[in-house]
Amino acid sequence: MAIERTFAMIKPDAVQRGLVGEIVGRFEKKGIKIVAMKLMQVPRELAEKHYEIHKGKPFYPPLIEYITSGPVVPMVLEGDDVITVARRMMGATNPKQGAPGEMRFDFGQQIGRNIIHGSDSPETAKFEIGLWFGEELAGYTKIDAAWLYE
Ligand code: RTP
Ligand code: MG
Repeated sequence: MAIERTFAMIKPDAVQRGLVGEIVGRFEKKGIKIVAMKLMQVPRELAEKHYEIHKGKPFYPPLIEYITSGPVVPMVLEGDDVITVARRMMGATNPKQGAPGEMRFDFGQQIGRNIIHGSDSPETAKFEIGLWFGEELAGYTKIDAAWLYE
């Protein structure tokens, strides 16, 4: 068992389309613990730091426009192997290449409006949790742990 933390962010399209509860509900039903969560407008500088790895790519300017176009819901999630598991729940980057059951397939249609972001490695998770939440993270015990983990 490897209890990990990852960073996820509900993107502006999903907030505007009223999908916050549905998306958070999927994580909760899976037994994934919400360690931190907020709703905020993204300053351009933060968006640029978050997606720095994509700087110079053709989709970078529209990506920054997209992420700063309305409020997002950043969160920190905790669970067994959650970095990989949460990415699988989100699905393929392009909703067209995904499969039913994946959030991006179930709720989205285009790669440039793909609902949610998730950290893609332990290094990225650590960087993104620090970038979006800094030191404000407080741990807590959730009562379902004994029924989720053997
Ligand atoms: P994310 O970082 O948002 O979780 O998405 P990802 O790892 O699945 O995909 P990534 O390659 O990191 O791309 C970041 C976001 O950029 C947009 N994108 N558009 N038009 C395009 O070819 C294209 N490629 C990527 C998507 O919004 C993607 O989630
Ligand atoms: Mg990515």
